[in-house]
Amino acid sequence: MAASNSYDFDRVTDRQNTHSQKWDKYSNLDIIPLWVADTDFKVAPVIQTAIEERVAHGVFGYTCVDQPRNQVIANYYQKKYNCHVDTDWIVWVPGIVASLTLAIRSLSKQHKQVLTPDIVYPFLHTTPAASGKQANHLAMTYTQDRLRIDIDALEKRNAQDAKVMLFCNPQNPGGTIYTRAELERIDAYCEANNLILVSDEIHADIILDEDKRHLPYLDVSPHALDNSIVLGAASKAFNVAGLACSWAVIANPEIRNAFTAEMHGIISEINPFGYTATLTALEHGDDWLQAMNVYLRHNRDYLMAEFADIKGIRMLPLESTFLAWLDVSELALEDPMAFFEAAGVGLSSGQGFNDANFLRLNFGCPRSVLEQAMQRIKKALV
Ligand SMILES: Cc1ncc(COP(=O)(O)O)c(C=O)c1O
Repeated sequence: MAASNSYDFDRVTDRQNTHSQKWDKYSNLDIIPLWVADTDFKVAPVIQTAIEERVAHGVFGYTCVDQPRNQVIANYYQKKYNCHVDTDWIVWVPGIVASLTLAIRSLSKQHKQVLTPDIVYPFLHTTPAASGKQANHLAMTYTQDRLRIDIDALEKRNAQDAKVMLFCNPQNPGGTIYTRAELERIDAYCEANNLILVSDEIHADIILDEDKRHLPYLDVSPHALDNSIVLGAASKAFNVAGLACSWAVIANPEIRNAFTAEMHGIISEINPFGYTATLTALEHGDDWLQAMNVYLRHNRDYLMAEFADIKGIRMLPLESTFLAWLDVSELALEDPMAFFEAAGVGLSSGQGFNDANFLRLNFGCPRSVLEQAMQRIKKALV
């Protein structure tokens, strides 16, 4: 297939022997890894060059944040989302999962529970217990094939003994982008129940439906801005997850101070490569990102067409992410993940996200790899 644009996303890069979690899981096995959420694309040339320049310097000591350069993040929110972020609202953290934990620990000292979506990226389930709190799961709905929190059910429930509500938008898995109306209802619920919402927006810049827009939670209302922690990173959209860098936007100074106090003695500094990659991505990477989104959109459409013809597997339409959510319940397999591994395709078990009827397929790879995987899936089902 011809490249869909001037960047070569069709190119297959051998990731063996690079300590890749995704590829090492099946090293020496003939299994195509379509599981953990990084893509197999080389980074944008501007990022490659910026990191090479940093490498060429040859000294990689402790790295500090350049406060005036926080303007890059502020400009990104302004340009991409038309929303205002003050440079001093930004806190740099080596990873989003660490920020989930910091938020829970700093804000839930007097509370036993943390609210979290019932079907979601596993760390939103596990970080509360790791901090001695009980994860209180919020019911989800698949209405119109959009996996999201069931807001009707949410509005009927008491927040009980919780101060923090974890949230994932775009939703992983499912790829749902919450609408403004949905976010306003969630914000109203948080206001009524005195909750602080922690919005994991790591997948925000991967937009598959051209008519859909991500709305950062901090732009939902003045209340949302003052009672939230919004987490962002270049890691998914620009495929730099291994460089361990992210940011939290915390407008409320009390919440920000509590959060940063909790970092002491636990969280190390960000590293020079992650920092360089993140700033470069946000400042100069948009052209590449748009091209990747076009490529992913075509991969998504290809998969939707393929699965439409496969009896027993239903792929949910998705608006964001490169992670297809596949309902395999009709196949009635004892161990769906093992079944497809035996067929030569490594998927994520839905069980980890709390819905064992599903498998998750990462389509952030060259089309030729996806085609090979689809041939194997079809062959396994005849
Ligand atoms: C929704 C979500 N949040 C967080 C992460 C991980 O973030 P980090 O590597 O920055 O801790 C992922 C990775 O797949 C994710 O999908």
